[in-house]
Amino acid sequence: MKTIIVCVSESHGNTMKVAKAMAEVLDAPVVSPEEFDAGKAGEYDLIGLGSGIYKGKHHKSILELAEKLPEPDEEQDKSVFIFSTAGKGDINQHRHLNLIISKKGYRNAGEFICKGWDTAGLFKYIGGINKGLPNRAMIEQARDFAKTLRA
Ligand SMILES: Cc1cc2nc3c(=O)[nH]c(=O)nc-3n(C[C@H](O)[C@H](O)[C@H](O)COP(=O)(O)O)c2cc1C
Repeated sequence: MKTIIVCVSESHGNTMKVAKAMAEVLDAPVVSPEEFDAGKAGEYDLIGLGSGIYKGKHHKSILELAEKLPEPDEEQDKSVFIFSTAGKGDINQHRHLNLIISKKGYRNAGEFICKGWDTAGLFKYIGGINKGLPNRAMIEQARDFAKTLRA
């Protein structure tokens, strides 16, 4: 199953830790949205899209990339999985990206969220919240999640 993971991890590299663990399991490259040619999405069976969560949504460049993905041909079974790290481990924050993907006609293969070190706003004055996250156990959960995606 040809897989690619597109990840933005600009705050603390939290989401990149998750992306790399999944990439190992799925034997997939991890690229930035700039490195991914949306027009070539049809070459992949499975596309992972992930970033930190900002104001309740994925990073703007991930949302923009999702908007650019071509609609899959009817006979193709194209799947996307969605992941993130966030201050709050609330999966509802995937809603926006999920909507774009489903409108395009991609199947949602699964979603993963875990808490990540968060220094947004006033949190920075106390060194942030969730310091040290994602931790080893969470990275293991990311691996286990990725195993469920292997056909
Ligand atoms: C400007 C800003 C806004 C954020 N907004 C949210 C938010 O709405 N919900 C949330 O759960 N976390 C929020 N966070 C926390 C980040 O999602 C969290 O730190 C994430 O792990 C960052 O991932 P990264 O290091 O891969 O970029 C915000 C962080 C920043 C800097």
